[in-house]
Amino acid sequence: MKKVEKIKITNSIQLTDLQILNGDCLKILPGIPPESLQCCITSPPYWGLRDYNHSAQIGAEQSPVQYVENLVNVFREVHRVLRKDGTLWLNIGDGYARNGGTGNCGPNAIVGNTKKLIQKRNCKVPNCWGLKDRDLMGLPWRVAFALQEDGWILRSRITWIKKTAMPESVKNRPTSATEEIFLMSKSTSYYYDSKAVRESTGANLRNYWLLGPDVSGNGHPATFPRELARRCILLGSKVGDAVLDPFGGSGTTGVAAKELERKAILIEINPKYSKISKKRINNVIQKSLRF
Ligand SMILES: C[S@@+](CC[C@H](N)C(=O)[O-])C[C@H]1O[C@@H](n2cnc3c(N)ncnc32)[C@H](O)[C@@H]1O
Repeated sequence: MKKVEKIKITNSIQLTDLQILNGDCLKILPGIPPESLQCCITSPPYWGLRDYNHSAQIGAEQSPVQYVENLVNVFREVHRVLRKDGTLWLNIGDGYARNGGTGNCGPNAIVGNTKKLIQKRNCKVPNCWGLKDRDLMGLPWRVAFALQEDGWILRSRITWIKKTAMPESVKNRPTSATEEIFLMSKSTSYYYDSKAVRESTGANLRNYWLLGPDVSGNGHPATFPRELARRCILLGSKVGDAVLDPFGGSGTTGVAAKELERKAILIEINPKYSKISKKRINNVIQKSLRF
């Protein structure tokens, strides 16, 4: 049988094959050489929702203004490490400003691993942007506009329509069942392979993607579908290119990258999720050896 190196969690940056780096992306990204990666596919924590159990986690800031600033700092580094024709594919969710309780479901829900610290932020309307009780904060667009001001070109807003949406017990508005994926570039001329993913009719891909969740739960509370990562990688890179996910989570970007023969750098702050990532990617390697 062919001998293939298994993926390990490491702390030295090399642009060979696939690497899982454990730590704060704001500290690790500056060690990646400039213009060395083709595209970034990522989903940062959503503000004030989940607790990822680390003092430097993003999403647990006192104010959503700080959250936007932190993301601008992360994506400034991403801008530096992407090639001139590189792209960023950013999936980001919204939330409601609330006074008082948050309930058991919906965007501000008390979910499995939500801890009191994070939950408290959701019990008082943030003192910014004129927000009032029950205001949708518009966070994805606030982040997108802040990145635009910081130099990114906003090329597309793709709406991810969730086949299975989280239930909400609301009676005064429709249930939220979509999230944004922003396509951003460094320059007007960037790599985009429009032939790599088409509509079933053969037409150019539309900017709404109807995607279900992956069936096997992998122990991470907020993964995106593998098909989402697969599409972004196919559209934004070639075989052999290197892709990045600075909020690697359970490694969905890495799994898709491995399957599509791309190199990848995944950064994740919580070692528990890096281990899940390692296991999932090594399973892909094992499977490929069986054929
Ligand atoms: C929404 S999840 C990403 C899930 C991933 N797309 C997947 O499919 O598994 C965001 C991840 O960012 C991680 N994270 C939060 N702050 C971070 C930081 N400063 N540096 C690196 N990772 C961070 C969290 O631990 C969490 O796993």
